[in-house]
Amino acid sequence: MIKMLIDCDTGIDDSIAILFALKRPDVRVLGITTGCGNIDAYQAAENSIRLIHLAKPGYEVPVAVGANAPLVGPWEGPVPHIHGANGVGNAELLPADQKPAAEAGWDMIVRLARENPGELTVVTLGRMTNLALALEKEPALPRLVKNVVAMGGAVRAPGNVSPVSEANIAGDPEAADRVFLAGFDLTLVGIDVTGKTFLTPRHLDIAEKYWAEDCRPILDYMREALKLYFAFACQNNRYLDRCPVHDPLAMVVAVDPSVVTIRKLPTRVECGGTLCRGMVVSDFRERPIDAPFASICLDVDSERAVEELLGTFLKP
Ligand code: RIB
Ligand code: CA
Repeated sequence: MIKMLIDCDTGIDDSIAILFALKRPDVRVLGITTGCGNIDAYQAAENSIRLIHLAKPGYEVPVAVGANAPLVGPWEGPVPHIHGANGVGNAELLPADQKPAAEAGWDMIVRLARENPGELTVVTLGRMTNLALALEKEPALPRLVKNVVAMGGAVRAPGNVSPVSEANIAGDPEAADRVFLAGFDLTLVGIDVTGKTFLTPRHLDIAEKYWAEDCRPILDYMREALKLYFAFACQNNRYLDRCPVHDPLAMVVAVDPSVVTIRKLPTRVECGGTLCRGMVVSDFRERPIDAPFASICLDVDSERAVEELLGTFLKP
């Protein structure tokens, strides 16, 4: 059983990753912490609570609001043209009675790591601000958590917010660099692999035929939420009726790393400059820079990853 904490900025792709984790029999989600990114940290928490209500995992999942700004400077604001005004493509999720936890997101990370020493998998689907703040409170965090799987970065592929940087890392490079330097067992699932793994409307049609009855409401939600995401992917990247699978792929890697090809490389984040700020720098040279090694995902079996993702919702 994977004991998991999800740290996210609950947008459309985060939501699919969360639903996947909540439906996995081999995953127990111990908590969800939120930050700003696709949407503000408060709306991200509200979306997460409504997703738990939709998935009905059969156990309680506390949700804590985390950082609403990066470590340095202000947050540049939400991205309604990608994730809609509410962060989930303007899809209407039913409200739930659950309220956000009284503790801050970074405190929840520290608490769950201390309560489950050596057992917690932290999956970050947004900026690494909460994890960096947790690290500040508990410097032993890299030894307390089992591993971190992070959606972020573009090591060999082009970036999605600048020529070389990806949104989650570029949104808070200082936080990401602190996390890279801390010595976590860290796997980076970046655009190199998420940018060549796609969901299409055909996948949703197949789901219509084969998904379990209790997953119908999840499918209805995904159809609604993905409309905007498909449209953005088409306009922005000329992807015809398909969208890249960012956060859900990180979640699949967290439960089944065999879908990706990994290389361990010394890795830092560029925190200066203008064009390269937020770039993930992994050193492929024989005599590399002196930095902790991260597991960088360089290739993926996309078909198997999508099967793993969507197959989780099948009839038993
Ligand atoms: O670059 C893609 C990432 O940025 C995803 O996590 C998406 O949800 C946004 O946070
Ligand atoms: Ca995200």
